[in-house]
Amino acid sequence: MSKYLDYHIWHELSRRAIELAIKTDVKNFVVNYENRIISYDRDFDGYVISGMGGSGIVGDIIRDLAYDRIDKNIIVIKDFTLPRHITKGNYLIFSISYSGNTRETIDFTLKALKHGLPIIAITTDGVLEKLCRKYNIPLINVPKATAPRYGLPSLLYSTLTIISSYEKEIISNEEINESIEVQKQVINEVELVRSAAHSINGKIPLIYVPSPIASVGLRFKNDLNENAKVAAIVAVFPESEHNDITIHMLKHDNVIPIVVTSSILNTEYQIHTECIINVIRSYNYDPLVVELKGKYKLSVIMYGITLLGLISLELAYIRGINPIVIEPIDRIKNELSKKLEQFHIC
Ligand code: F6R
Repeated sequence: MSKYLDYHIWHELSRRAIELAIKTDVKNFVVNYENRIISYDRDFDGYVISGMGGSGIVGDIIRDLAYDRIDKNIIVIKDFTLPRHITKGNYLIFSISYSGNTRETIDFTLKALKHGLPIIAITTDGVLEKLCRKYNIPLINVPKATAPRYGLPSLLYSTLTIISSYEKEIISNEEINESIEVQKQVINEVELVRSAAHSINGKIPLIYVPSPIASVGLRFKNDLNENAKVAAIVAVFPESEHNDITIHMLKHDNVIPIVVTSSILNTEYQIHTECIINVIRSYNYDPLVVELKGKYKLSVIMYGITLLGLISLELAYIRGINPIVIEPIDRIKNELSKKLEQFHIC
């Protein structure tokens, strides 16, 4: 098995996910749930993307993309409860769970269904798939990967394809294509991956990331946690200029600032980036600056997520850590399901 696991086939997973989503033809579905008719071929006021961890990041990415492109709200839910305004609203719900067995996502989906909200599920298997089959809910059955986080393209590109069938302006074909091409290119950045992983080794990364591509920073933190078992902090700016940055007044030898940047960001963000780097340096910190390539926002995001993901795998490799095993996550899922059963919350 390659130390970069499924990353070599990410571009193929992306294309396959688009095909699967088109084939599913969600607008043709009509769900009859307890005598409530739920239709999909209509206009929605917004989109809710629900999921946890490696599945939940899809919502963060699509929210970054939609921010200045569509008039509607993208609401990201990483929880088992529904905000009140959603229960009353005209929203399309995406329930994303790679395994199809994550408690929070299942509970959220069941509650949404009870409120008569239209649901589209994206999963490989599990309770979520069964629920969809039972009620004829649109289901995108994506292929399995080595672990949920390595199957990101399947979850992301299927969700995005469906949203774009409702909101044309969210993405162009050209942008989709470039964002898949960059995934192939990043695999060749072997030297960059190695040297970055060596600089991070033994330190706590403090990831400065601009808000338009905040999902890249969040995903990097999650990958560092899950693959390399390393603690990391995401410092989304400009907000982090008002808090995180003060830590540099002291010399924390175990902290490495990483500044994520891209030339597609507007001048204001470029100025903020420059100022952050200058201030960090003025306190004798040597930040690792990671310039993300790509002409379009999704390309930049996918370039960043792929590159930084590989860095986290390289770091695991250097440290002799198995990146795949995430025992505490499995343990808490088991413990929770036992406790919830005990309290008859299931
Ligand atoms: C990532 C990972 C976790 C899961 C999360 C939710 O590889 O293992 O972050 O993604 O526990 O599980 P799923 O994605 O199966 O709903």
